Formats: sequence, C-alpha cells, structure tokens
Amino acid sequence: MASLFEPFSLKSVTLRNRIAVSPMCQYMARDGVVTDWHRAHYATLARGGAGLLVVEASAVSPEGRITWGDLGLWNEEQAEALRPIVADIKAGGAIPGIQIAHAGRKASANRPWEGDDHLPENDPHGWATIAASAVPFGGGLPRVPAAMTLDDIARVQNDFVETAKRALSAGFEWLELHLAHGYLAQSFLSPHANKRDDQYGGSAENRGRFLLETVRAVRKVWPADLPLTARLGVIEFDGNDEQTVAEAIELVKRMKAEGLDFLDVSIGFNTPDAKIPWGPHFMADIAARVRQETGLPVGTSWFISEPAEADALVREQKVDLVFLGRPLLANPHWPYRAAKELEIKDPAWVLPPPYAHWLARYR
Ligand SMILES: Cc1cc2nc3c(=O)[nH]c(=O)nc-3n(C[C@H](O)[C@H](O)[C@H](O)COP(=O)(O)O)c2cc1C
Repeated sequence: MASLFEPFSLKSVTLRNRIAVSPMCQYMARDGVVTDWHRAHYATLARGGAGLLVVEASAVSPEGRITWGDLGLWNEEQAEALRPIVADIKAGGAIPGIQIAHAGRKASANRPWEGDDHLPENDPHGWATIAASAVPFGGGLPRVPAAMTLDDIARVQNDFVETAKRALSAGFEWLELHLAHGYLAQSFLSPHANKRDDQYGGSAENRGRFLLETVRAVRKVWPADLPLTARLGVIEFDGNDEQTVAEAIELVKRMKAEGLDFLDVSIGFNTPDAKIPWGPHFMADIAARVRQETGLPVGTSWFISEPAEADALVREQKVDLVFLGRPLLANPHWPYRAAKELEIKDPAWVLPPPYAHWLARYR
C-alpha cells in the first residue's frame, strides 16, 4: 500500500515521496523575471525534502499576470533566468515543475499585501483585461474584461503552447496548466463567468472547449514521456455543486483522452459569493471522487497540515500526491518533521546529505 514516503512515478519521472510543493505566487518578479528572492525561496523549499516542487503561476503573456509582480514565461529572458532555479530544485532532490497561467478577468490587481484588489482603471501600472465574457468577477475585482474574440482565443492558446516550450527549454520536467481559481481557463468553464453564445459558451461541452483545446495543443509540444498535468477547480460551493462536479469529471475524462497525465483537484473561485467549507483536508473526498471516476492520478491541497492526515490520504488512496502550501512556508522542512512523526526508517535522510548526516545523530 502506498504511503506518504513511498516514491511516485509518472511517465519517466519519479518523485522521492508523495509530498508536493503547491504553486505559490511570490509577487516578487520584475517584468516577469525571477529575482534573488525566488532563488532563495525555491532552493530552500527543494532542500526541505518534498518530492515535487511546482514553481508558482507563471504568466503566458504580460496581460495574463495577476499582479505586476507575477512571474512570466512569455520571453526567453524569463526562461533563461529560471534555469538556475531549476538547477537548485534538482540539487535539492526534488522534481522541478512549473505552473503556467493566464489570470483573465482577475488580472491587473494589487499585490495581496497591498490590497489584493483591482488596480484603479486609471492606474498607470494596470492593464486592460480579457475573459470569456465581459463580466467582472465582482467584490474587490470589479474591472470589466473585454470578451475574447476567436482570434484572442487562438492567440492565448498559442501563448500556452509557446510557454510550454520555454518551460521545457528551461529544464522543467513537470508541467501544470492553471485551469483553476477563476482565472482565464476556469472562467470559460463557469456559467458564472461565461455568457458566450458561440462554440465556447452555453453547454458544458462548449464551456469546456477552451480548456480541452489548450490541453490538446500543449500536449503536442510537451514531450510524451514527461507529465502534462493541470489544476482544475471542480467545485464552486455555490449551491450547484453536484452538477459542477459531474461536468468537471466529464471534462477531465476528455482531457485524459487527449493525454493529460494528472490532475491537481481544486476550487473554482468563480464567484465571490461561494460558501467554502474551510476545514482540515476538506477537498480530499472530492479529489478521491475525481480519481475514482476518471482513473487519473490526482493530488489536492487546502488545509492539509498534519503528517498523519497527509499519510492517511495517500494510504486510503484518496490522492496520489499531497500538495502543501502554507505549511511549507511555515516550515520548509515539513517533510523531515513528517518523517519523524510517522517514524519512517532514517527520517533525517529525507533531507539532503549535508543536513541529514548531522541530524541523524541529533535529537
Ligand atoms: C502565497 C500563496 C500564493 C499562491 N499562489 C498560487 C499559484 O501561483 N497558483 C495556484 O494554483 N495556487 C496558488 N496558491 C494556492 C496554493 O497553491 C494552495 O492551494 C493553497 O495555499 C492551499 O494549500 P495550503 O492549505 O496547504 O496552504 C497560493 C497560495 C498562497 C498561500
């Protein structure tokens, strides 16, 4: 039976354990290029012992950033600057992954600690946004996006393809398409955001078209032996959950047929009115249902913080990987803590030798 510290293989890639660093924007880039902050941040997380490290949402185009501080991967300079980070991640023993993204109608926002809301329309640092339809998210994100034309759709899908190629050239071995959290792709899927009356709107099949076509297009350029994965919000917590989950599962089955290898199961975040039942590992049973009904390996995050809890989710075959965000910001060596608490053999050796050798002799 698999457990948290059992390796996980997908395609040609083997993770040393089932702990993944969930993608986390740092909002510290300059013109989409990594800074010293990222270098230290990712090297520390990789040394902490996780099997997979997914670098934060990296925009496929300048207008696809959430904030001006987001990472980008729309040009060669950005790809080149990521190379040393890929090397740091590998040196720490983790598999280097990256999430590529377009923020859609949630773009052009302040950094979270500077307001977490849309920049005013006249702010020189802001930019015009695009989305499935000219419908704003609402709440602190009132900016009205332009409804995308068919040319816009083709251009953004091509941006995903070109960005995937740059991710490969930078050395990443695990690609995650950000199809979640109310950003561009997720907004196509959601009736809250998508009011189109063409082939990209209306029925569940039409609302899923942008996402499915993007998976298909990226699969053509992402090597067959490397994992192509996605993060998808499969539930909104808006009172219509059974239908949303069922539609998402049908879409994921089609993505699997197009070559998707793994799904990070998450939340839609398409409406500010969602009633999300925050609590310990509240997404795990939903992830387990997606895993069972699609046959795809899955992971999930959200309030998984205790080692025994993470281990149980893997043992009970609810998820294949556990994605951790804030617990790893609080303690990048969380995997070491987990190894000790779960009493695995030689727990210090989940860390690289320069730490493990000494900690193995230290209590
Ligand atoms: C600082 C921060 C930045 C985040 N940025 C991203 C991101 O770039 N992409 C993404 O899909 N999720 C992002 N998230 C969500 C996390 O990946 C994760 O799902 C969330 O924090 C829940 O997991 P946790 O309870 O272990 O923190 C971010 C979360 C945090 C705290």
